[in-house]
Amino acid sequence: MNLAATDFAATAPAITLETEADVAQREALLDLAFGRAARFGKTSERLREGRLPADGLSFAAHGPDGRLVGTVRLWNVTAGPGRPALLLGPLAVHPWFRDRGLGKAFITTAINEAARLGHGAILLVGDAPYYARFGFSTALTEGLWMPGAFERSRFLGLELKPGALKGARGLVSPTGEEIAAPSLTELIAREATPEFRRSA
Ligand SMILES: CC(C)(COP(=O)(O)OP(=O)(O)OC[C@H]1O[C@@H](n2cnc3c(N)ncnc32)[C@H](O)[C@@H]1OP(=O)(O)O)[C@@H](O)C(=O)NCCC(=O)NCCS
Repeated sequence: MNLAATDFAATAPAITLETEADVAQREALLDLAFGRAARFGKTSERLREGRLPADGLSFAAHGPDGRLVGTVRLWNVTAGPGRPALLLGPLAVHPWFRDRGLGKAFITTAINEAARLGHGAILLVGDAPYYARFGFSTALTEGLWMPGAFERSRFLGLELKPGALKGARGLVSPTGEEIAAPSLTELIAREATPEFRRSA
């Protein structure tokens, strides 16, 4: 399924919904783009860790050989109390596939799909000169705080519904579905199996 606007199709790979098969290559691409330690140290990660991304809002792009060459996800958060929003990121395009509109196709697709699914606003922490072209602005996040260190000049918002971030105040907090962790009993039972003892 090609979710990107058709005018990008001639110059960049198609944007599709991410699948299970993309997950390992996505991790490798993000390590390449950001560095592993750096990316897990980001304050935005505090809003993503242990959570599932927002439904229908994880996107991928593949090169001619089928390998993953780009990724972006959106995450459910609240922009202060009782104000649902999405957090965008991380966005990464493989160095070989940059500067041909793929980043733009990812952001445009993310915005269009989020709006189509009824979401009101998107937040992100990123390079303002890059995201300003899509309408993201610091003016909409002035009353908000991230749950850790962040640069206010890189903390940006976009309204998909007019007024969705008007007067937003408070801490941005995660609201996405939590990833189910196995219970201690399950882990002990797993360790007791012959398969586990052989692989250990
Ligand atoms: C940022 C990134 C996703 C852009 O992907 P891309 O496919 O090259 O983007 P596009 O082709 O749509 O846009 C390229 C344009 O954006 C500009 N650009 C790229 N990164 C930029 C940045 N950090 N700040 C300002 N402009 C930037 C390019 O100079 C180019 O400008 P031009 O259109 O005037 O020639 C890619 O460079 C990347 O993965 N970088 C490493 C990870 C990262 O920084 N992610 C974003 C987090 S803030």
